[in-house]
Amino acid sequence: MADAQKTIGVLTSGGDSPGMNAAIRAVVRSGIAADMRVVGIKRGYHGLINGDVTEMNLRSVSDIIHQGGTILYTARSPEFQTEAGMQKAIRVCEEYHISGLAVIGGDGSFRGASALSAHGVPCVGIPGTIDNDIAASEYTIGFDTAVNTAMDMVDRLRDTMESHDRCSVVEVMGRKAGWIALETAIAVGATAVLVPEIPCDLEKELIPRILRIQKTGKRHYIIVVAEGAGNTTEIANLIADKTSIETRATVLGHVQRGGSPTVRDRMIASEMGYHAVELLAAGQGDRVVAMKDNRVVDYDIYKALEMTKPFDKKMYQISNTINI
Ligand code: F6P
Repeated sequence: MADAQKTIGVLTSGGDSPGMNAAIRAVVRSGIAADMRVVGIKRGYHGLINGDVTEMNLRSVSDIIHQGGTILYTARSPEFQTEAGMQKAIRVCEEYHISGLAVIGGDGSFRGASALSAHGVPCVGIPGTIDNDIAASEYTIGFDTAVNTAMDMVDRLRDTMESHDRCSVVEVMGRKAGWIALETAIAVGATAVLVPEIPCDLEKELIPRILRIQKTGKRHYIIVVAEGAGNTTEIANLIADKTSIETRATVLGHVQRGGSPTVRDRMIASEMGYHAVELLAAGQGDRVVAMKDNRVVDYDIYKALEMTKPFDKKMYQISNTINI
């Protein structure tokens, strides 16, 4: 390594999402193209604290653009949130001459990045989570793949629900965010969608809606429920009880987090990874890469963490209007 050559690191943190590998690949190759040394840190901040650092080259990221998951693995690290953990992380950065870090993950990972930045290691966040719930960004890497997976699964459920005149209550991911549920519901034409952002009185709103729609001659139903919007089995039991429609509950779970990323996720991950390296190469830290009006931009990390993202009530309204 030439003395003047700058070293940057890349890590993935929090829940994985399809397209993280494409982002890693973009960071590594853009970094090398900008004459920087790039190291990968395994298992997020946990690996940073423990010195799990590996040299990356052009070939370390071959044949990964189409793969789900993250070749750098990911973890949650309570220790990193302590001052002692932070000091360990700083020592590792010094040891490996890491003078900039690309952090691919969600809001929690960005909070870690802002703390590390405040301790003198410039960090740039890249939004990666299937939930699409990062306030600063209209889009997060992995969302499109997750929604397409959920849509495909619900299309399959629809086939069998239709054959049996049944109701399917299907839970999609999103403990705190209803974006996957909303887009899935619109894409599959679900009779109703339940999201944590908009409370729904099941007995006063959901059941009357199903009964009303039943009177129009509909015989099979799909109810999409975000993970954080209620208990899927209880909702299915209530529907069966109150409407006499035979009802089944399905939890899609982690299948939504895996799989080969869609074109959209590969494209955005590539552009965001490249953009993050442009910032780091220019010596800028404390930034978050984001999508605004369909373009890749960046924000101050502290301001980004204070932003809020209003739920798309219009699309929710559209879903309720046309999915009957
Ligand atoms: O943040 C992504 C996400 O998949 C959420 O939708 C979900 O609630 C959570 O992660 C599940 O986390 P874990 O994989 O730790 O169970």
